Amino acid sequence: MNLPYAEPYRIKMIEEIRQSTKEEREEWLKKANFNLFNLKSSQVFIDLLTDSGTGAMSDKQWGALMTGDESYAGSRSFEALHNTVQKITGFPYLLPTHQGRAAENVLFSVLVKEDDVIPGNSHFDTTKGHIEIRKAHAIDCTIDEAFDIKNLHPFKGNIDLEKLEKVYQTYPKDKIPFCLITITCNTSGGQPVSIKNIKEVKELSDRYGIPIYFDSARYAENAYFIKRREEGQQHRSIKEICREIFSYGEGMTMSSKKDGLVNIGGFIALNNEEVFQKASNFTIIYEGFITYGGLAGRDMSALSVGLDEATELEYLESRISQVEYLGNKLMEFGIPVQKPIGGHAVFIDALKFLPNVPREEFPAQTLGLELYKEAGIRGVEIGTLLADRDPETRENRYPKLELLRLAIPRRTYTNNHMDYIAVALKNVFERRNEITKGYQITWEPEILRHFTVKLKEA
Ligand code: F0G
Repeated sequence: MNLPYAEPYRIKMIEEIRQSTKEEREEWLKKANFNLFNLKSSQVFIDLLTDSGTGAMSDKQWGALMTGDESYAGSRSFEALHNTVQKITGFPYLLPTHQGRAAENVLFSVLVKEDDVIPGNSHFDTTKGHIEIRKAHAIDCTIDEAFDIKNLHPFKGNIDLEKLEKVYQTYPKDKIPFCLITITCNTSGGQPVSIKNIKEVKELSDRYGIPIYFDSARYAENAYFIKRREEGQQHRSIKEICREIFSYGEGMTMSSKKDGLVNIGGFIALNNEEVFQKASNFTIIYEGFITYGGLAGRDMSALSVGLDEATELEYLESRISQVEYLGNKLMEFGIPVQKPIGGHAVFIDALKFLPNVPREEFPAQTLGLELYKEAGIRGVEIGTLLADRDPETRENRYPKLELLRLAIPRRTYTNNHMDYIAVALKNVFERRNEITKGYQITWEPEILRHFTVKLKEA
């Protein structure tokens, strides 16, 4: 008999979490204006709002915290981080930032101007926000297969080369500062991009003189899928695959809160000295001096260790298997999920799960609220609320998929928690025909509305 997989670590410290009653949860939801971001963490039993900054650090990372160097300039912690980033990515220039969107802010301050277009594979919402706030446009060139949840394409994060070439032919070169490849592609379900696709995008972009940048929040998980699924990649180490991925880019932004295995942090890594110098000025204005960028020395030390751990096969194997374990359970119950199961989360198709809730009443949000009421589990809507309004027409943008994302924090929950989540969803699924009403907006901000929107029952 084959041995089952088991986590390559054991638990040294625990944190108490508490269950609540359905009545309490219904009351708390009203007070939270039916926005799960407004709940207190003490009101949540299993928190799947995000995998960002919510993972558990290792004893080696906690150890590194204690030896962090808090010098304002040129600290040992920066040096350690710089060496690790260079080893993993090959990029010679590093600018730390306080998180991923800060890296976007700094880099886009250099590269993006009004009326530019930035093609890519389903840009993440903060990324799109940083593009649109500069009156530029993000153009989604993801392959069509990504929007069919049943399609088993192994690399649903891939960029459609025809769509991309059309962008390159439609707009002049000086309006396209770069093509952005997000690895893995969060918005379309934590789906990976193949090395073949990255290479082809690079070749096509070279012909038009457009550089490639990576949004690399979950690059190690992407490399794991390449190793497991792509022809000819099985014998390579994760670190080798990462080096090849980044060799096709001019630079990257990183949210270290994901595959950096830390609770806060980000960075920009670059090839080009001129871009680095310009970005250094923006780092100083927005983040801090260029050798700390809004982070404590100890944060950089822990990140340096975390980046190394996150690019080890044993860790990734256990991480991705856990997400898959939950996905498989849901599939056994007949629950419609995005397939194949993504790297950091299970995405549930709310339009199929709750066919009786009208699109204008936010079915994915409704499903998230039902799951919370059922069992104290907090997921997040990746649908119409997240998609915001069109900046020109101010109409709702209805994305192709209306999803509830259950993001699994790294090294945090056990498979007993996964079983609990699966049964909770099954219970909601069994009463799905009784759920016919969703929610209406009572207040919303101009952009990035899903964080602070206020809702009422429809
Ligand atoms: N890029 C991607 C692909 C992301 O998923 C995120 C964050 C960011 C950039 C921004 O990084 O949060 O450090 O500022 N995603 C989180 C999530 C918030 O829940 O998916 P950040």
